Amino acid sequence: MSRITRRDALAAAAGLAAGLATGAARAGRAPIPFGSAAQIETFRSDPRYREALRRYCSVIVPMNDLKWEALRHDRNGFDFSGADELVGFARQNGQALRGHALLWGMALPPWAKEMSTKAEAERELIRHIETVVDRYKGKIATWDVVNEVIAHEPTLDNPYRDTIWQRLLGPEHIEIAFKTAARVDPKARLVINDYDFEDPDPRIAVRREVALRIIRRLKDKGIPVHGLGMQAHLYGERAIDSHGLQQFMLALGKLGVDVEITELDVIDWKLPADPATRDRAAASLVATFLNAVVSARQPKAIVTWGLSDRYSWIEETFPRQDGAKARPLPLDTEYKPKPMMTVLDRYRRGTA
Ligand code: G3I
Repeated sequence: MSRITRRDALAAAAGLAAGLATGAARAGRAPIPFGSAAQIETFRSDPRYREALRRYCSVIVPMNDLKWEALRHDRNGFDFSGADELVGFARQNGQALRGHALLWGMALPPWAKEMSTKAEAERELIRHIETVVDRYKGKIATWDVVNEVIAHEPTLDNPYRDTIWQRLLGPEHIEIAFKTAARVDPKARLVINDYDFEDPDPRIAVRREVALRIIRRLKDKGIPVHGLGMQAHLYGERAIDSHGLQQFMLALGKLGVDVEITELDVIDWKLPADPATRDRAAASLVATFLNAVVSARQPKAIVTWGLSDRYSWIEETFPRQDGAKARPLPLDTEYKPKPMMTVLDRYRRGTA
């Protein structure tokens, strides 16, 4: 992948600045609901975090508290304390809620990892979804029904990620999850959520095709599926495949499903060290990505995976060689807006 040099970043930033200048005068488009994931530990400990969620977001998604790992410490119980707190906060502030995620092959409690038969997996999956979706019926409007069910490097013959669900239930694990969620809450929007749809690598084109085939299979069976969630963890050193994204958006439209951006941030570990340069390059990458998507389809929401650089999964997962702190999100560590927030403002205010 081409590295972004300082010269590229400055040129991109100049283009971005020019774009922003005209953007403000450009005829607006419908505002796109904007929000963020909320991590319960930080939510409880940092008042500025809570205030930023309140100030900037019209959508909230519990980052971890609706995962099996948080809900299901043991087979017979459900611990809704974290999720209830975040759901309560969002409803108090008139914010919409996304639920993440009813089925994932990761973030499972030990007992779930020990499931060993098809019957047991199906029974536990259905019981989980029935209990969780029923509890938040009328509160959580959109669910990531399945998360990351596509193989990291899929082929059309082997498209699915190797998870306990796939091993015990086969491809039907996806259908069971969607069917159950639709039965329990027929009004909920049901989404297949996944990553790596954005860059020009041939692997990505296969991932997009696999996503379309999964959706088509659900539709052909009359199983409700309403949207594709693009996590959009953008790599700073990779290009955005604007044409490929636009074709993907149009293909999703032909299948009658919406698109939503569900975990946007920028993995900046290969970007220049200088914070201002890095911030401009990250903002330009987000602008290129959003322009490509919005030029073909209006996303139902743009959700970032956190708001402030003070807290991000990227720090640990993609450490920079120079040891500098990651700068993946719209606000800096002091909750000051960065160029990325300026880009996002154009979409959440409808001036893009
Ligand atoms: O809650 C426990 C706490 O009780 C315990 O003391 C602590 C230390 O073991 O762990 C805490 O759980 C951690 C949890 O985050 C809450 O902080 C888990 O170990 C840790 O694995 C978990 O990481 C999350 C990860 O998903 C796995 O669930 C990250 O915060 C979260 O940002 C990340 O988000 C994922 C999306 O769900 C799917 N897409 C990719 C994205 C990034 O990996």
